[in-house]
Amino acid sequence: MRAACTDTANRLPACFFSNLLTAQIARDVASARKAGLASLASGPQQPITTTKAIALTNSTDFHGFKLNGSIVRALAEEKYLTPTPIQAQTIPLVMAGRDVIGIAQTGTGKTAAFALPILHHLAAHPRPLVRKSCRILVLSPTRELSGQILDSFRAYGRHLRVRAALTIGGVSMGAQVRTLIDGLDVLVATPGRLLDLVQSNAVRLGEVECLVLDEADRMLDMGFIHDIRKIVAKLPARRQTLMFSATMPRAIAELAAQMLREPVKVAVTPEATTVERVDQRLIRVDRAGKPAALIGVLRNETIDRALVFTRTKHGADKVVRGLLRAGIAAQAIHGNKSQNQRERTLAAFRKGEVRTLVATDIAARGIDVDGVSHVVNFDLPNVPETYVHRIGRTARAGAAGVAISLCDSEEVGLVRDIEKLIRMSIPVSGRRQAHEHPPKLAAPHIVPPRPAASAPHKRGKPRRSDPARRDRYREQPHENPDAIAAVRFLQRPLPPRSNIDRRPSPWAGHSKGS
Ligand SMILES: Nc1ncnc2c1ncn2[C@@H]1O[C@H](COP(=O)(O)OP(=O)(O)OP(=O)(O)O)[C@@H](O)[C@H]1O
Ligand SMILES: [Mg+2]
Repeated sequence: MRAACTDTANRLPACFFSNLLTAQIARDVASARKAGLASLASGPQQPITTTKAIALTNSTDFHGFKLNGSIVRALAEEKYLTPTPIQAQTIPLVMAGRDVIGIAQTGTGKTAAFALPILHHLAAHPRPLVRKSCRILVLSPTRELSGQILDSFRAYGRHLRVRAALTIGGVSMGAQVRTLIDGLDVLVATPGRLLDLVQSNAVRLGEVECLVLDEADRMLDMGFIHDIRKIVAKLPARRQTLMFSATMPRAIAELAAQMLREPVKVAVTPEATTVERVDQRLIRVDRAGKPAALIGVLRNETIDRALVFTRTKHGADKVVRGLLRAGIAAQAIHGNKSQNQRERTLAAFRKGEVRTLVATDIAARGIDVDGVSHVVNFDLPNVPETYVHRIGRTARAGAAGVAISLCDSEEVGLVRDIEKLIRMSIPVSGRRQAHEHPPKLAAPHIVPPRPAASAPHKRGKPRRSDPARRDRYREQPHENPDAIAAVRFLQRPLPPRSNIDRRPSPWAGHSKGS
């Protein structure tokens, strides 16, 4: 099993706690009190019941929640000193047994927001385990996210006697079946493998007390909804249900409401807000000029780790080949890679041996990788919410980061959709042509001055009838939800930038883009 992170707080700027959190929590708690919590509680469909019984904490440390002492001890060891706003607001609600929809920006600690009160519940209400059953079921869209969530439960619950396990695709079912025989407190799963295990009678879901859907809007969209419905049909009607995400489109929220009882919606920031500390930029470029533009970005920026997103698996491989030809070490991760390859690739990225990881949207949600300084959208995503999640792989837990999107003429409509969703214009920084060679290298570790942002991007109604856009929707990869290895990225010191060969690129001018 992967080791859980233990020194998160060490790398956070002091202002993260002292300014952002304390001020934010104070503001949120004060305004929630003033409004009798009504401002926080605006469930999408069902009326919100009175919340008088629910005590909000204005505590700026974890003691105020009256969590089990063993959990507080584990948090101190993790160096979590201050609850984040989503934690401050949802932990008391979950402890009070409420159904919650929690919406908060990427990298703001939603995992602990549900894991801590769940662990408290398990400690406060011990029960003998029931064979082939679990008390808590946590579902997430990808293997690596499920693994990460399990790591978090294990880290926060390390001083409790909690039996937790993972059931994900791509690995042998036999070991998972054996793990389930004696029963579990917490089962973290991806939906497909869970249903396989249910169908083969390896697990029964009738004992579940609490269901968590992490990345809930993804879990309820077309790709997963059928599996989720089948799973929910096997759960007891009387249960607690928790849903978390950074985005929640209205249609999905309405669907979600059907699975919740008198839910409380906790929206720390307006839905789909991007983290302010992400320096977002747009580079207008011809399609064929994208490889050169990417090389320019990777050479001229001071990169700790870069995550490059492409729309397709084939596109990811092509980008990697181009980067290698340009002397930039890179590896790809996507659903067509074998389990072994994926694990090796993620391990290399985690250790800093490979600083550039090229990925499909399978890596867009939930992955918590320390030190990702840059996200580059080689292709713009055709689902606007995906942009929010992709760029949220940087600037996590109070850090800063850069998100650069390469936009060709066919993608202008996609940018408009994204800007509409995030309610801001992405500054345009320069334009590149296909024939341009990658710019000369800047001196090591000196960030070249950034071009001034040009006029804000003109907003307009998305052209849904645009044939190029329709094709893009058709091209949308249907990734196997279980497609990449479950790896928790450890925080390791980064090696020097020796893996980047600074010779001029032979790639520019040869590639036609991905
Ligand atoms: N109270 C805290 N103090 C310090 N660090 C924290 C705290 N809560 C969470 N973290 C750290 O913040 C990082 C982000 O947490 P997490 O992955 O839960 O974010 P998230 O909100 O679920 O993001 P995403 O929307 O991308 O899934 C993790 O490394 C976690 O260890
Ligand atoms: Mg998360």
